[in-house]
Amino acid sequence: MHEQAERRPGEETVELPESYDAGLYFIGRVRTPWLARAECPKNGRQTDAVCTLEVDAPYRPGLQNVNGATHLIVLYWMDRAARDLVRQHPRHAEGSRGTFSLRSPARPNPIALSVVELLGIEDGTVRVRGLDCIDGTPLLDIKPYYATTDSRPEAQVDRAGTVAKA
Ligand SMILES: C[S@@+](CC[C@H](N)C(=O)[O-])C[C@H]1O[C@@H](n2cnc3c(N)ncnc32)[C@H](O)[C@@H]1O
Repeated sequence: MHEQAERRPGEETVELPESYDAGLYFIGRVRTPWLARAECPKNGRQTDAVCTLEVDAPYRPGLQNVNGATHLIVLYWMDRAARDLVRQHPRHAEGSRGTFSLRSPARPNPIALSVVELLGIEDGTVRVRGLDCIDGTPLLDIKPYYATTDSRPEAQVDRAGTVAKA
């Protein structure tokens, strides 16, 4: 069950469908120093902590060649987040905002991502720097980060005037 059940002013929930459109295979889990949401950094750039991705044995052949990358995209499942919030009121913001304008873990499909620095791989354990989740968070996927295609230095959020219209 998720840790933040109370609703803040301006928040809106949706009735979720009775069944799922797709299934997922957790490929392992994320090991971090943080045991609760409140202990986690807001994002992986706010910490130097070394974390590990524990990849389950059947998926370990998939780690071949991964060590060629300096950085990885890690996708993980925020298993303690609410899934019915379509508008939410972040602590740091003045009013409520659409879920898809936020990096909040509370969303219909609580998939989180971080770009991490790869430190090493030993026996199905990938050491990285740059994560922000609770210890034991289910691991969904690992992909190489390509600066040539993934980096968009011109990107912005909250361009003047757009937040109010959204
Ligand atoms: C703001 S989210 C960003 C996640 C990811 N970097 C992203 O952008 O998709 C990070 C926060 O999610 C919360 N969190 C961490 N692990 C969680 C989990 N397993 N379930 C629910 N919330 C979690 C913590 O409060 C943490 O600070």
